[in-house]
Formats: sequence, C-alpha cells, structure tokens
Amino acid sequence: MTPVDAAVRAEIQRRGPIPFSEVVEQALYAPDGGFYASGGRAGRRGDFLTSPEVGPLFGVVVAGALDAWWDQAGRPAVFPVVEAGAGPGTLARAVLAAEPRCAPALRYVLVERSAAQRDLHAEHLALEPPGSAFASLPDPDDDNTRAVGPPPAGPILVSLPDLPRLRGSCVVLAN
Ligand SMILES: C[S@@+](CC[C@H](N)C(=O)[O-])C[C@H]1O[C@@H](n2cnc3c(N)ncnc32)[C@H](O)[C@@H]1O
Repeated sequence: MTPVDAAVRAEIQRRGPIPFSEVVEQALYAPDGGFYASGGRAGRRGDFLTSPEVGPLFGVVVAGALDAWWDQAGRPAVFPVVEAGAGPGTLARAVLAAEPRCAPALRYVLVERSAAQRDLHAEHLALEPPGSAFASLPDPDDDNTRAVGPPPAGPILVSLPDLPRLRGSCVVLAN
C-alpha cells in the first residue's frame, strides 16, 4: 500500500465516505507520494504527453494568437498573460521561442500549484520577482495608483503558486 492509499483509507475509516475531490487532492499533491509532489509531470520523458510537449508548433500557434489579441487590444505597453496550470513551463518556453511581436509588452505569469513543477520553471526561463511583472499595472486594491514612468521592456516572466489578482484586461491561457 502506498502512503496515499494508506492516508485515503485512514480518512475513510475515520469519516466514512469522503468526496472524490479529496481523493484526487491526495493522489496528486500529497507531500508524501502525491503524483506531482513525487516528480510526476508531462513530457516525453515524463508520464503523459500534452500538446506543448509534442513539439514547438503549439507554442507558435499560441504566440500568434497572443499577437492577434494584443493588436485587438490596441497594442498596450503592458500585456499580462496568465498561464494557469503551467506544468514544467514548456508552453511558456515555446511561446517565447516563437518571438511574438507583443514580447516587449509581455508579462507572462506561470501559475502552477506543484512546487516540484514550479522549480522546473527557473531551469529554462529567466524568471523575475513577481512584483516586477505587475509593477506597471494599477494596484487592484487602490483606485488611486498610477504607473510612474514608462514600463520596463518585456518579456517579463514570473512563476506563482496561485492566480494573481490583477485589475484590467489580461489573457488567461490553460491547457
Ligand atoms: C495536465 S497538467 C498540464 C500541464 C501543461 N499545461 C501542459 O499542457 O503540458 C495540469 C497542471 O495543472 C496544475 N494545476 C492543477 N490545478 C491547479 C490550480 N488550481 N492552480 C495551479 N495549477 C494547477 C497541475 O499541478 C499540473 O501541473
């Protein structure tokens, strides 16, 4: 019996039937044996294959979509893109490798709840402190904040465990 099996079994014995969501939570994220906590991941050398992991084409297509949405938005100087469930960061790498026109405005936020996977972001991406991605955006808790000076040139990449609170428009990607 694995530690996750034992933990789920003990919880059911203690409480009776438990929600399936709690079983999945344990199976994926339990510090002792959860799939992602134990290094499970997408990728050719990982456990399952997703579109970003097949090759660079998916990232090229997403980069093209980002440019189209940036154009539609009037090419703002700061263009936040939030990737929810970013895994090891492969899509972010492919998007940047495609050199989208919006790159100087790009604030690319990788959101990944697994610490083991977040650790992989820094291996191939030049991450910056989270504040730097949002410094030139209005504070969502303060109606009076205004950006001071021109925003720094992007792309600026940050890695977070949870979705950020942002004011204004942004793109949210999830694969
Ligand atoms: C199936 S993997 C896909 C990874 C990547 N998007 C890809 O396409 O290769 C789903 C990822 O979403 C993450 N995830 C699931 N729920 C999440 C949440 N609430 N917040 C942040 N990340 C989450 C998981 O930890 C996992 O790394």
